[in-house]
Amino acid sequence: MEEKEIFQKLVEARDSAIAEYSGFKVGAVLVTAQGEIYTGHNIESSSYSLTICAERVALFKALSEGEREFKKIYIISNKEEFCPPCGACRQVLMDFAPDITVILQTPAGQRKEIPLKELLPLAFTKNKLK
Ligand code: THU
Repeated sequence: MEEKEIFQKLVEARDSAIAEYSGFKVGAVLVTAQGEIYTGHNIESSSYSLTICAERVALFKALSEGEREFKKIYIISNKEEFCPPCGACRQVLMDFAPDITVILQTPAGQRKEIPLKELLPLAFTKNKLK
């Protein structure tokens, strides 16, 4: 899928966000090693802490469909600034997609690429449980 189409999917996902408490809408597009696309948006609960981020929604959708290898995840919000993934999402991404590239986008079209390993140095991983 072309970058332009991915950007469109990202914006569509964000616009579908269920974010009635914060008003902060986030969209994510996860790209698998085979080039399949899984979208996600944040889903907020009236019991605020049960809210789930866009990134984990996209990842859990993909995992539940049997996907196990991931290449890139795009993230956008409805604010002008980049929306870097929260700590919880960084950890879950590290568990399932340690080599993934995170691509931050703004509505105006700015873009920043960062390897997940740079966003979560000295990560806790399953190897530590051995
Ligand atoms: N949120 C995400 O979906 N992804 C992030 O990377 C940061 C935060 C959501 C959670 C909540 O619904 C809202 O943004 C405000 O924190």
